Amino acid sequence: MEPVPTIVTLGEPDRAAMLAHLQGLSAQDLALRFLQAYRPDQAGGLVERMLERGRAGRALNFGVRDPAHGGLLVMGMLAPYVPAGATADSAAELSLSVAPAARGRGYTRVVIAWALERARSEGRQRLTLYFSEANERIRKVVGDLRLPVVVTAGRGVVHIDLDAKDAGAASPADEQLRQLFEAAWESAASRL
Ligand SMILES: CC(C)(COP(=O)(O)OP(=O)(O)OC[C@H]1O[C@@H](n2cnc3c(N)ncnc32)[C@H](O)[C@@H]1OP(=O)(O)O)[C@@H](O)C(=O)NCCC(=O)NCCS
Repeated sequence: MEPVPTIVTLGEPDRAAMLAHLQGLSAQDLALRFLQAYRPDQAGGLVERMLERGRAGRALNFGVRDPAHGGLLVMGMLAPYVPAGATADSAAELSLSVAPAARGRGYTRVVIAWALERARSEGRQRLTLYFSEANERIRKVVGDLRLPVVVTAGRGVVHIDLDAKDAGAASPADEQLRQLFEAAWESAASRL
C-alpha cells in the first residue's frame, strides 16, 4: 500500500525532528516562516519556545512526517490569535514551513485544509495567515483562495472565515477549498 502522509501533533519527543527541520531551512526561509530574521544557530531556541507554547496550551505544534525516514516534511503551528479590539481567542493563526525537498507537492494547501477543520472544531471564527509580501510561494497559494488580502508595511494577512454555527454545512468557499485540498492531498501522497 502507498504510504500516506498524515498530520501529527508534535511535543517533547519530537524535539530532535523539529530542530532538524528548522536547521534544514535557509536563513531566508526562517525569515519568511517567522517574519523576522533568525540565524540558523538560533533554531534550538526557536524549538524550545514552540515546545513551551505547546506545554502552556498556547499553541498546537504539528507536522507531516516522511513515512520513509520519520523526518518532518512539514512543521507548523496553530495558535490562538486575539485580533485587535477582540477579547476572546476568536481566531487561530497558522504558520508553517515545508522542507525544501518536499516543496511543490501541495503540502501548504493540505495543511490549510486541515487547519480549517481543526480551528472550526475548536469553535474559532476564522483562520488567519500572516506572510511576507516577498513570499511568492505562499502568495500563490493564498491568491488561489480568492479572499481579500490586506498588505501593510510589506506584510500580508488573509482571514478565512469559519462559520462555527454551521459546522459540517459547507459554504461555497468551503466547497471550493475542499476540492482544492483533496486534489492537493492526492497529489502529495502520490509524489512521496
Ligand atoms: C511557503 C512554503 C510553505 C510553500 O511550500 P509548498 O506548499 O511546498 O509550496 P510550493 O512549492 O508547492 O509552491 C506553492 C505555489 O507557489 C508556486 N511557486 C513556486 N515558486 C514560485 C515563485 N518563485 N514565484 C511564484 N510562485 C511560485 C508553485 O508553483 C505553487 O503553486 P501551484 O501549487 O499552483 O503550482 C515553503 O516555500 C516554505 O516553507 N517556505 C519557507 C517558510 C515560509 O515561507 N512559510 C510560510 C509563511 S507562514
